[in-house]
Amino acid sequence: MWKLRTLLLLALTLCVWSAAVPAQLAEQQDEMDYMHPELKRTQRSFRSNKAEQRNEYWLQASRQHILQKLQQVRNTNRAKNIILFLGDGMGLATLAAARSYMGGEELQLSFEQFPHTGLSKTYCVDKMVPDSASTSTSYLCGVKANYGTIGVNAHIQRGDCVAMANASNHVYSVGKWALDAGKAAGLVTTTRVTHASPSGVYAHTADREWENDARLNEACGAAAQPLNDIALQLIHGEVGSRLKVMLGGGKRNFFDPEHDSKGQRTDGRDLPAEFEQLAAGNVYVKKRNQLQSIKANETNRLLGLFSKSHMHYHLEQLADEKNTEPTLAEMTQKALELLQSEQQGYFLFVEGGKIDISHHDTMARIALDETVELSKAVALARQLTSEQDTLIVVTSDHSHTFSLGGYQARGSDVFSPAKSNASDGKSYLPISYANGKSFEEYYNMTLHERVEPKEFPGAGDAYQVFPATAPLESETHGGEDVAVFASGPWAHLFSGVYEQNAIPHMMAFAACVGAGQTACDQSASNDAFA
Ligand SMILES: *[C@@H]1O[C@H](CO)[C@@H](O)[C@H](O)[C@H]1NC(C)=O
Ligand SMILES: *[C@@H]1O[C@H](CO)[C@@H](O)[C@H](O)[C@H]1NC(C)=O
Ligand SMILES: *[C@@H]1O[C@H](CO)[C@@H](O)[C@H](O)[C@H]1NC(C)=O
Ligand SMILES: *[C@@H]1O[C@H](CO)[C@@H](O)[C@H](O)[C@H]1NC(C)=O
Ligand SMILES: [Zn+2]
Repeated sequence: MWKLRTLLLLALTLCVWSAAVPAQLAEQQDEMDYMHPELKRTQRSFRSNKAEQRNEYWLQASRQHILQKLQQVRNTNRAKNIILFLGDGMGLATLAAARSYMGGEELQLSFEQFPHTGLSKTYCVDKMVPDSASTSTSYLCGVKANYGTIGVNAHIQRGDCVAMANASNHVYSVGKWALDAGKAAGLVTTTRVTHASPSGVYAHTADREWENDARLNEACGAAAQPLNDIALQLIHGEVGSRLKVMLGGGKRNFFDPEHDSKGQRTDGRDLPAEFEQLAAGNVYVKKRNQLQSIKANETNRLLGLFSKSHMHYHLEQLADEKNTEPTLAEMTQKALELLQSEQQGYFLFVEGGKIDISHHDTMARIALDETVELSKAVALARQLTSEQDTLIVVTSDHSHTFSLGGYQARGSDVFSPAKSNASDGKSYLPISYANGKSFEEYYNMTLHERVEPKEFPGAGDAYQVFPATAPLESETHGGEDVAVFASGPWAHLFSGVYEQNAIPHMMAFAACVGAGQTACDQSASNDAFA
């Protein structure tokens, strides 16, 4: 552990700056060798403060901003392609802190440069604060649902095996709408490909936990008979079986232990083998180098499962000499290579899924690093596509109880204690959470006092947890709105404050897919949107 921590610290220091540079998909080695001349925080802080003392600095920047706004032209082209990026658990405070982590409050994540932004209301049908399953149904299928359910409407309560069998309760994603219109579709995630967010593209389930047959049978018993687990739906389902690209983690849900020791299925099936047998040119890959050697012109459909469960954190990949997992940007690049030959265009869903997972463990450094990884993947996708025909939307499913507070000096380390002490005489951190397991580590129950954060064991390393106010086994999601960033055809539709489930309808409008009103409907464009 000690060695990994040291490596992680090194990786952290070296890779932070590469985030601000437009993603060039350098080899990971290059990424580590690359050190921005302004990496030294004291230098950067000095420079930026000095410029900011002059009125002209602020006036010039504002003039530039207004000019840019005036030059904006509404793009009412039909969107041939749609890419939806999801930062799971990426609330507004996470975005602000990620800029400091990148090296300065004045920096921008790639998608913060998009011309149109809005706010999405994330509550689900039965909860004030939602989970990633109900929200996936909302931002992919366009219908709000109950907590824990995916691709089904709110007639279905979580865990209701019988109601799940009734297909009239199923709802379909913008991925299917695109497929039905002759486009291709795909998904990329850093979590298990059967996890809550990506499942919204292709699955219908009364419980997000039913990722393999063992879990489904355990919960439903005899009622499981007509039902399919999520992994099976990905390989053989109506939508899953038509996806051109599926990349992420989660091997364990696709095999029996006899085929792969990591497998958790009990039905004896080897789903990746079945996938390869479905059609010539279907390819299954397990490693980064295999992914990179895939030739788009020689591949029909591509399944990549790079880890047993979720993929590792980017900082862990960097620190591991034996790493065989691709980065989010690398997976995005390969997915686009495969999809770009599609004459009718495509829908691609890309999830940075581990922002959420690190926040649940109050590991803020990792959450911010994963946010920067998403930013790199978005920058790359925008570079590889045209604003004229490709709509890119970047959003989150929900926030977290993550908070950024105190009056830290500009350019200081966002993870170090504030200069002044709290009223108990101890220091405090700018980053904290309203709840989470780390409560126990930052509060001494014997002495009934806080632990001095400066003396916290593990302070400074990548796995450092940040303090929480209420002791909870897992830090929870937050209920405030999340941002939506849009670029490309009809991006201006995404401004304002709206319900999260409007997102796929607006994407469908722009691309002329789905059963609702679209930009290709003459009267719609002329009367309401001209
Ligand atoms: C299926 O669900 C629909 C809508 O909720 C309902 O009207 C119908 O009766 C259900 N069918 C069965 C067989 O339960
Ligand atoms: C696919 O493209 C590569 C170059 O990227 C080329 O070497 C190869 O021959 C092509 N394969 C086919 C089947 O056209
Ligand atoms: C904060 O408290 C520590 C002791 O815990 C003390 O050494 C330090 O001087 C205090 N700093 C301020 C600014 O009060
Ligand atoms: C709490 O204080 C006691 C007594 O000083 C000490 O033994 C214990 O390790 C402390 N616990 C934590 C979580 O700091
Ligand atoms: Zn979560």
